[in-house]
Parts: sequence; structure tokens; C-alpha cells
Amino acid sequence: MIDFQRILNEILGDLSTAKDRGTVASYIPELAKIDINKFGIHLIDDAGNEYSSGNSDEAFSIQSISKVLSLGYAFSIVGDDLWERVNVEPSGDPFNHLSLLEMENGIPRNPLINAGAIVIADVLVSRLKNPKDDFLTYIRTIASDPSIAYDPSVARSEKETGFRNYAAANLLKSYGNLENDVEQVLDFYFHQCALHMSCRQLANVFYMFMNRGKCLHDNKYFNLNHVKRINALMLTCGFYDEAGEFAFEVGLPGKSGVGGGIVAVLPNEFSVATWSPGLNKKGNSQLGMLALEQLTTKTGRSIF
Ligand code: DON
Repeated sequence: MIDFQRILNEILGDLSTAKDRGTVASYIPELAKIDINKFGIHLIDDAGNEYSSGNSDEAFSIQSISKVLSLGYAFSIVGDDLWERVNVEPSGDPFNHLSLLEMENGIPRNPLINAGAIVIADVLVSRLKNPKDDFLTYIRTIASDPSIAYDPSVARSEKETGFRNYAAANLLKSYGNLENDVEQVLDFYFHQCALHMSCRQLANVFYMFMNRGKCLHDNKYFNLNHVKRINALMLTCGFYDEAGEFAFEVGLPGKSGVGGGIVAVLPNEFSVATWSPGLNKKGNSQLGMLALEQLTTKTGRSIF
């Protein structure tokens, strides 16, 4: 049996002396206020045993990690029709690039880059009665945790500086790939990205992606087909132009966010979340990537 607690403690010990912790995201001004020295990791295994180290209970802005949750929700509502509006290919580009969107006539490369997630947000805005409330209820129910909330100051901060996302949404609208108003869709998108959650809460919510669609409390949210596709998208597109590097170093499907969080799953074995706010040049958490590389190396476990 793997001694996860010992390994998480070792990872924390190793990384606490790291000199290069990356740079905290500043294009969303609210995020720039976060202490770069924070580090947390939380792992839950298939039997529901939980292990953690560092600031694993402190909530942070999950940002792009939310794209997996909105994708899962939209996919479970509309099924395979979703793929008519968004493709499933890695982009090899940064998360906010627009050039491929124009070249490919308003069909985003995948649902995990910003343009793709904005299309997914549009699907949810069309299908849900009270989109922001319903999405929050969905996440709280999966986690069995009513304390999970949006951070309105982060949502506001992003709205004020979200010029590229406005550009993406307007481009999508011009190609007929946005049903609702740009303002309404982006309001939803900025809120989903502003979900405030800890490593513990994230690892617990992502448990369903490693547990064949069943959440920690045994309710089924996805079938095997859904889970296969969502995990495949995390593996190939979850880290933008660093997806290859993450697969190479870590070897797990996962998703990062510019708040410094990363979640990753090993199907049928564990779900893990890390948080360290400093990002590398590609916008992924510098120490989070190192921590997960150490985890899969020390445990000898990965999808490969
Ligand atoms: O739309 C944005 O730019 C942010 N709300 C999310 C970007 C993000 O987290 C990219 N992830 N690494």
C-alpha cells in the first residue's frame, strides 16, 4: 500500500525551499494580491481516504479548472451535439489566443481554451433557468459542501480587464456560435472562473472523474463514455501549449488555472489537487507541476 501521507509531506518539504516559484498572474488584478508562498496539496484515494499537506484547506480562485466542471455539466445536458459547436483537438496555443478561432470559422479548438469555455458557458446560459445559481448548486451538491461560493471581487476584476475574452465572445457571436448576449455569457463565465475553492474541495469534486462518474457520496453524474471523453480532453488540452510537457512529466489527465491550482486524476486510483500561486511562462503553476511530477515518480503511478 502506498504511503501517500509520507509522500505529500516529502513533496511539501522539498518544495518549501524552491527558489523559483514563478510569477503570480497579474492580468486579473485581484489575483495579483495573493501570497506567492502559499502551497497546498490534497489527495483522495478510491476508497475515500484523504491525505493533505500545506495550505490545502485555504480557498483560492480556481479559474480555468472550472472549465472542466462547466464542460461536464453541459455535456451531460446536451450530449454529443456539443461537439458541433466546439472541437476536441489540442490547440498548441496559449489559453487566450484567438488566431485559430478566426481561421476555423468560429469553432474553438477545444472546450478548455477560453473561446471553447465561452461556448460552453453559452450552452449553460441557454439551458439553465438561473445559470449562476444553478451552476453553483451543482458544484455544491457534488461536493456536499454548501460553503463553496463565487468570489464576486475576482469576477468583477476580470470583467474590468477581460478585453481578450470580450474579443473572443464577439468573434464567436460574429460566426453565429453564441446564442445569448455577449455580456450575459461573459458574466456567467467570469463567475464560474471566480469559484473559490480549496485543494480539498477540488480533489473531492474531481473524485467523480476518477471514479467512473460517481461522486464521493455515490451519486452518479456521468457515464463511462462521458468520463472517458472529459479525461481525454484534460490530458490533451488541460495545459494549453504545455499539455505535452504535463503528460511527459506527470502522466495524468489534469487541469490548471491561473489562480495557481492544478487538479489531476488517476482513473480508479486517486484524485489530487495542488495550489501554488506562482505561474510559469505558459501560465501553469510552477510548483504545482513539480509537485505532481514528484507524486507520480515517487508512487510509480500514472496512466502510462
Ligand atoms: O479567462 C481567463 O483568462 C481566466 N478567467 C481563466 C484563465 C486560466 O485560468 C488559464 N489557465 N491556466
